[in-house]
Amino acid sequence: MVAFPTETVYGLGANALDENAVRKIFTAKGRPSDNPLIVHIARTEQVSALAVEIPDSANKLIERFFPGPLTVVLKKNKSVPDIVTGGLDTVGIRMPRHETAFRFLEACGVPVAAPSANRSGRPSPTTWQAVLTDLEGAIPCLLVGDPVEIGIESTVIDCTSEIPVLLRAGAVTLEHIREVVPEAITAGSNDRLLGRSPGTRYRHYAPSGSVEVVGSADLALAGPDHAFIGLDAPCQPDRFGFVQLCDSVQQYAFHLYDFFRACDASGIRVIYCQAVEPVGLGSALLDRLVRASSR
Ligand code: TXA
Ligand code: MG
Repeated sequence: MVAFPTETVYGLGANALDENAVRKIFTAKGRPSDNPLIVHIARTEQVSALAVEIPDSANKLIERFFPGPLTVVLKKNKSVPDIVTGGLDTVGIRMPRHETAFRFLEACGVPVAAPSANRSGRPSPTTWQAVLTDLEGAIPCLLVGDPVEIGIESTVIDCTSEIPVLLRAGAVTLEHIREVVPEAITAGSNDRLLGRSPGTRYRHYAPSGSVEVVGSADLALAGPDHAFIGLDAPCQPDRFGFVQLCDSVQQYAFHLYDFFRACDASGIRVIYCQAVEPVGLGSALLDRLVRASSR
């Protein structure tokens, strides 16, 4: 079991073909056993050993976006143990583009099942220090490498039906996906489609302080145990416990989870997060803000 950086967040990996190795991940994270893991690969040729009936749409997405922050869900091959997929007959596959991840996966020589390297229910780790905060003592090995680049998790798209369905927004946006697969749709709040994404059933990405998403910065109320993150300055910024101003949506996404962790560590009670436009990476960022704010 090895924690390693990727361009999205740190992952906690083990040999995807070894049931006992994968079980250790669930134990270390305290993760519900019906929440499936993404299988990480170093080369596109590995897809055919993990999946069957690979449709055209998936081949197009793989050709365009691998390596990168996209997970493609396909019908699984028998070789993938049920523990990896939470009992589903599908498997999520991703090929990261981070240098350390690539070298690690290449050296492993086997597909690597890896969820984000946080304790279940905590924000995904975007630094090696965050991995240690959650998992020190519970994992034998952590690769440090270059920092992550994006800071929120990969886009997940289900390609098992005729029309591909976006299950989780990420840095590869619906707009990007439609350039190669115009018919792709987003699960949005459609329960039947969302049912395909077990991860969405769990409370996720949540700091201990309560998260309030505000439409504009001046709606955030100052206070010593209040914090603010966003693109514009709040009123009376000196009267907040913490303020993180970001120059762009990219920077906002990059800082978000570490900001949540910093707020937790200093007992912040209310975390105001400025909403962003739901376009491009903004859709993924807004998705994470709304999830973090749901009680
Ligand atoms: O960026 C990422 O995706 C990171 C890095 C480490 O690659 N990994 C990550 O893994 O975020 P995790 O386990 O925290 O989130 C995986 C998400 C969950 O929402 C899970 O339900 C969904 O992907 N998922 C995995 N396999 C699936 C499948 N076969 N069908 C539907 N959803 C799946
Ligand atoms: Mg996770």
